Amino acid sequence: MANAAVSAGNTNGEVSRREFLFYIWGASIALFAAESAGLLIWFLIPKFREGEFGGAFTFPIDILPDINAEPANFAEGRFWLVNLDTTNADGQERMFQAQDENDPIKGVAAIYKVCTHLGCIYSWIPVNNRFECPCHGSKYRLDGRRIESPAPRTLDRFKIEALTDDKTTVLAESELVDDFYQPLPLPDGTAFLRIDTGAKKTGPSPELLCSFTGNCP
Ligand code: FES
Repeated sequence: MANAAVSAGNTNGEVSRREFLFYIWGASIALFAAESAGLLIWFLIPKFREGEFGGAFTFPIDILPDINAEPANFAEGRFWLVNLDTTNADGQERMFQAQDENDPIKGVAAIYKVCTHLGCIYSWIPVNNRFECPCHGSKYRLDGRRIESPAPRTLDRFKIEALTDDKTTVLAESELVDDFYQPLPLPDGTAFLRIDTGAKKTGPSPELLCSFTGNCP
């Protein structure tokens, strides 16, 4: 008789105690699963703070090297900062315009310190006026373009923003051409630079510079 009463209750659209507990249990499981997924995503998404690799670095403009001068080394950010201008006579032994480059190369670039061949850390070699990798001998011009292989491509670059002295107003940012950050000419009023090491672009693979000078190994 009791079962008959419950069945009768269900057919009348009423929710039995058993069904009610079942719904509560299901809702609890769903809530737990959603919370777990949220926590997992929160842990998996990388979070970088200002001033650590993977995050942004903000510097006053006076840290910039002179035009075509030797690069400034930022070890914590794993990048070199360079100030390029192929129209300027200063430092042309370090930064020159190649035969296949129609437009002047002008602006600031932040270059990733890892060789594009197999990932060694290369160095700036002052007597040779170029970057050289100790592992297999790849060489790069001041802006990161390959001089000699086996590096397969130009050194990677990070995004740069030019900021006013309030550090928040962005006057200009690195332009992307063929998905690669171009040197950023700094607008008047630039007081700070922000280099975002979380925004890296892979270098292209133009012809080796040594092929123009005929000294490729
Ligand atoms: S890792 Fe740099 S040349 Fe091989």
